[in-house]
Amino acid sequence: MEKIKTYYRKIKHALKLYPIYKVVEEVQKREPGKKYDMLEVFANTGEHQMPAYKHLAKSIEAWEINSMHEKALRRNLPGATIRITNSMEEADRCEKKFDWIVMDAHMECFGANKEYCEHFEILPKAFRLCKEEAILIFNVIPECPKEWNIKYPDIFGPRHLERRNRFYGVNDTTNLSYDFFEKFYVSLAEKNGFKTEWMFFHQRHLLHYAVMKIIKLQA
Ligand SMILES: C[S@@+](CC[C@H](N)C(=O)[O-])C[C@H]1O[C@@H](n2cnc3c(N)ncnc32)[C@H](O)[C@@H]1O
Repeated sequence: MEKIKTYYRKIKHALKLYPIYKVVEEVQKREPGKKYDMLEVFANTGEHQMPAYKHLAKSIEAWEINSMHEKALRRNLPGATIRITNSMEEADRCEKKFDWIVMDAHMECFGANKEYCEHFEILPKAFRLCKEEAILIFNVIPECPKEWNIKYPDIFGPRHLERRNRFYGVNDTTNLSYDFFEKFYVSLAEKNGFKTEWMFFHQRHLLHYAVMKIIKLQA
């Protein structure tokens, strides 16, 4: 079964059928020919999204907490720096700077005690890891269609919604617009010393990619 899934995924990548390809195409339109020092914060095996953009890398660093993925990561990302680590802690230790950071976190609360939620803990830490200019890619969830809620009851369950409300600073996060997200993240970047050159969104499934190009503000 796993072999069939891998084969199917490879075909979809070959045909560029995943939404991440649209994201990469859009970034390349805005920054043709640019190569990046990339950081993948929740890398998994490196075979789901990275095939769409790893060719744009000058260097790749991949962080993943689950040591079961180490072998596949090394196979899928030859030459990359692979760290089996808790990214939340690694982000505080890391001294290297990047200009392409992907934070493909879980869809709701995660961690041994559900202490993390979506990208809410990692994104504020990621600003410190950015070069003068950087592209940040993470997921947002504007709303949760009923069929998703039935399949995954914790998504938009009480714990998740409470964390969302706290992070976004509003009382109801069940229906957020791209406009709301853009204002929120532009302001977050500014509080962390960056102006936003551009930002766009692209739907993936329940998750939507949020893609922003930030530039360090002069002191
Ligand atoms: C949604 S998956 C990422 C998928 C990946 N971007 C891809 O395209 O294949 C989330 C991954 O983050 C890892 N993870 C969860 N918590 C983590 C943490 N605190 N530090 C590092 N990795 C973590 C999980 O083991 C899982 O492989």
